[in-house]
Amino acid sequence: MIVLGIESSCDETAAAVLADGRRVLSNVVASQDAIHAPYGGVVPELASRRHLEVIVPVVRKALAAASLGLTDLDGVAVTQGPGLVGSLLVGCAVAKSLAYVHALPLVGVNHLEGHIYASFLTDDPPEHPFLALVVSGGHTALYHARAPLTYALVGQTRDDAAGEAFDKVAKLLGLGFPGGPVIERTAVEGDPKAITFPLAQMSDGGADFSFSGVKTSVSLHVKRRGPLGRAEIADIAASFQATVVKMLVRKTVKAALHHGIKRIVLTGGVAANGPLRAGLEAAAIEHGLRLHVPPRHLCTDNAAMITAAGSARLAAGERASLNLNAAPDLPLAS
Ligand code: KG4
Ligand code: ZN
Repeated sequence: MIVLGIESSCDETAAAVLADGRRVLSNVVASQDAIHAPYGGVVPELASRRHLEVIVPVVRKALAAASLGLTDLDGVAVTQGPGLVGSLLVGCAVAKSLAYVHALPLVGVNHLEGHIYASFLTDDPPEHPFLALVVSGGHTALYHARAPLTYALVGQTRDDAAGEAFDKVAKLLGLGFPGGPVIERTAVEGDPKAITFPLAQMSDGGADFSFSGVKTSVSLHVKRRGPLGRAEIADIAASFQATVVKMLVRKTVKAALHHGIKRIVLTGGVAANGPLRAGLEAAAIEHGLRLHVPPRHLCTDNAAMITAAGSARLAAGERASLNLNAAPDLPLAS
């Protein structure tokens, strides 16, 4: 089964072609970072306009890279949500048009399920049941994947997403956008123990996350110190990153042990972070858990992951009608 997948939920315009849901024949990502960087964050109106400009060339490029044409396809998958409505609409309109004109089965994919499916595009896919930590710019949540295509929400952030905290702290430190990669690079020269930022403690001891406290502490620290030198910025970046990693690792391992789940999947844009990958790996080994982490380029937004999830849903017989609509708040589980 050859499936074309389209992703346009935020600021990446992406298309991919997969064979049998696992073999990536092509995976094209057009980043809009340069467009949004001057604003220090994604500007929704600019994002949807850019998607409109590049989506058809991106789809063409994905087909060409796979040496296939539209008539070779067996299905079309598209991110339905969650995400920015104007951005999602572009992908949905193109996917529906292709499905209609070429009489192809269509399926809508939850972007977060896409992130989880990135872990199936490796030589070591996870077996069910597993616990998935999805950490991105818009979401930070733990899902219990009991069986294929079945998810239960275990915990989620009560305020900012982890990636959002990286982006806001990078802006505070004058490091640019997107914040995650530049904080990781800056932190290499810093001391992660230089400053103690607070670890959010949930009063009910639950599996939820909170990142607004650490973000506010960084902001107060920066205000108190006045103009910062390079070494100080590196120390703040390293200490902030270490705090976020510690919170994510602790909650995830605790939830896995509490629910008796032996396998963990780490995915989403923030899963590209080296110290997070290393920290969760070390904690998993310590507690006898198996960790599955997709390669970095499949952790950040891409269409291969959407196509993988869409292929699984098409194979299970799922079909969307041509009434498929963008769903900016689409939940994966409740
Ligand atoms: O999954 P993603 O590409 O888009 C969303 O679905 O949101 O995640 C983007 C987020 C951004 O906040 C970005 O700063 C963060 O992932 N990110 C990172 C790294 N690379 C991307 N955060 C920490 N370390 C990284 N290396
Ligand atoms: Zn994402």
